[in-house]
Amino acid sequence: MDDVAIARAIHVLAVIVWIGGVAMVTTVIFPLIRRTHAAKERLRLFESVERRFIWQARIATLLVAASGFYMIQRMNLWDRFRSAAFWWMHAMIGVWAIFTVILFIAEPLIIHEWVQRRALKSADATFALLHRLHWILLLLGLVTAFAAVAGSYGMVLVP
Ligand code: HEM
Repeated sequence: MDDVAIARAIHVLAVIVWIGGVAMVTTVIFPLIRRTHAAKERLRLFESVERRFIWQARIATLLVAASGFYMIQRMNLWDRFRSAAFWWMHAMIGVWAIFTVILFIAEPLIIHEWVQRRALKSADATFALLHRLHWILLLLGLVTAFAAVAGSYGMVLVP
């Protein structure tokens, strides 16, 4: 079962990089951006952070999914998806799916252009909205990580 232990280690490391990065962006970078006065400077700051972080997040989501599905297959955990007590398994896939759609589809096709268009015209409202959305994603990620650790170690988490 060494392979499952390695998959678990990769899974957790990738979650740390990904959700840790979201925490940093939400609690440190966004407040900094929103305190910056010139709209042009805000956009420049946002884009340089986003350009660097988005690739880390994309690679991390791929590693999380590959290691996660590997563990499900190797430990034959598919039955868990039929039980509400394992809602945290559904939550992991749900959080991963939301981020995957945002990082690989919505960001390059819609969000990037939308931010460019709105950030100079109504900077306050645009960055307030983006900040709120990051808080929601961060909280979903943290609740899921908490429940996944507790659930993996046998705690029954009935909703
Ligand atoms: C495609 C998406 C995902 C799949 C297939 C997946 C699958 C799994 C599996 C099979 C386990 C082991 C469960 C057990 O030992 O009983 C696990 C553990 C875990 N997962 Fe995921 N997961 C996914 C996404 C996520 C996400 C998005 C997060 C965080 C927000 C996450 C955080 C964790 C954590 C913290 C553990 C516990 C590791 C430990 O302490 O042993 N996973 N995951």
